[in-house]
Amino acid sequence: MAKNQQKVHAIMIPYPFQGHVIPFVHLAIKLASRDFTITFVNTHSIHQQISKAQSTDAGDIFAGARESGLDIRYATVSDGLPLEFDRSLNHDQHQESLLQVSSAHVDELVGKLVCSGNPPVSCLIADTFFVWPSSIASKYNLVNVSFWTEPALVFTLYYHLDLLRQNGHFASSDNRVDTIGYIPGVQAIEPRDLMSYLQASDITTVVHRIIYKAFEDVKRADFVICNTVQELEHETLSALNQKQPIYAIGPIFPNEFKRTKIATSLWSESDCSQWLNSKANGSVLYVSFGSYAHVSKHDIVEIAHGLSVSEVDFVWVLRPDIVSSDDTDILPDGFEDSVKERGLIVAWCHQIGVISHPAIGGFLTHCGWNSTMESMWCGVPLICFPLLTDQFTNRKLVVDDWKLGNL
Ligand code: UDX
Repeated sequence: MAKNQQKVHAIMIPYPFQGHVIPFVHLAIKLASRDFTITFVNTHSIHQQISKAQSTDAGDIFAGARESGLDIRYATVSDGLPLEFDRSLNHDQHQESLLQVSSAHVDELVGKLVCSGNPPVSCLIADTFFVWPSSIASKYNLVNVSFWTEPALVFTLYYHLDLLRQNGHFASSDNRVDTIGYIPGVQAIEPRDLMSYLQASDITTVVHRIIYKAFEDVKRADFVICNTVQELEHETLSALNQKQPIYAIGPIFPNEFKRTKIATSLWSESDCSQWLNSKANGSVLYVSFGSYAHVSKHDIVEIAHGLSVSEVDFVWVLRPDIVSSDDTDILPDGFEDSVKERGLIVAWCHQIGVISHPAIGGFLTHCGWNSTMESMWCGVPLICFPLLTDQFTNRKLVVDDWKLGNL
């Protein structure tokens, strides 16, 4: 950068869920490494959960990055709910608050950051799922960059909701079930591969209201950045580019997968490396369903049974809130004892560190987009078990289009 040129100062605001915070943190580090000043904003609740998981009173999750010379500042904002509110067991109320209440808090914070910014704040990088970026960016005269953390295919399907509606594949009392072949840049997609929200019979939920508003708002962004790989989704991206500038920026992981000094996990990470070191290359199945979806107790029991009879070694991530009830006793009687020689069950781990270990030979996954990108990057084949939202559409990419997995 020329000496008299001012550094770009961007405010970055992820949607307050684990699967969004992680790619935002990776992007913040990349941009700061290219001489941006970043002010990263988490909700109070995400901040509190990360601090608790790390058993520290961490004032600032980016302190370690600053020690390495990166200019990343940190702020927190209310999502409109009390800190003690259980967001995991009440997804809808959490989302309702994000829709109705949180923008006022963000507006106030951005106003303060803009007033005091040194170098001056010139850019807002907000998650596409928010419904307010265009109004806040225009109020404070900021470049409005929308960050979409899922594949371009999912973006374009939400972007073309009206087309799906007009053609009777969405929002009709009797949705068509034939192949969809009219979305620009998408050769063909089956209705069963649409995101769960587009297959739902009730299309008036809070998530639907968020999607309708957010995908109107994104049309006013200066440009969109998408956590995908240009070569993998070039047709979809170039069709979208006819309407609005969109750039593929993935993959955005750190260059090496060891734990970094920047904490992003909402649960404390178990160290699996010693256990994995004792296993033969490619012999261990990694099983995880991400941070958001709940799995029924019935499915947990079936998976446990499958792992028992397969006789394969495995690491299974069972989040404390994996089943959406207070039931803590979810595994079949005697299961843990019967697999203790070959199975490691943990509440959470450093996933990218685990799947990049040579002992890992496969990943039974819910097809969350981060998990999908991380496995592709590490060359780990997938067994797909999509549960909700974009995961059905991601499965289509992985299994039908890219032939990297099975279902
Ligand atoms: C959800 C969606 O399903 C996803 O597609 C969307 O893009 C974001 O919201 P999530 O269900 O959490 O995300 O799945 P995923 O996108 O795979 O993200 C999970 C992240 O948590 C990954 O980066 C993964 O590495 C990390 N993780 C998971 C851990 O670090 N440790 C674990 O034990 C499990």
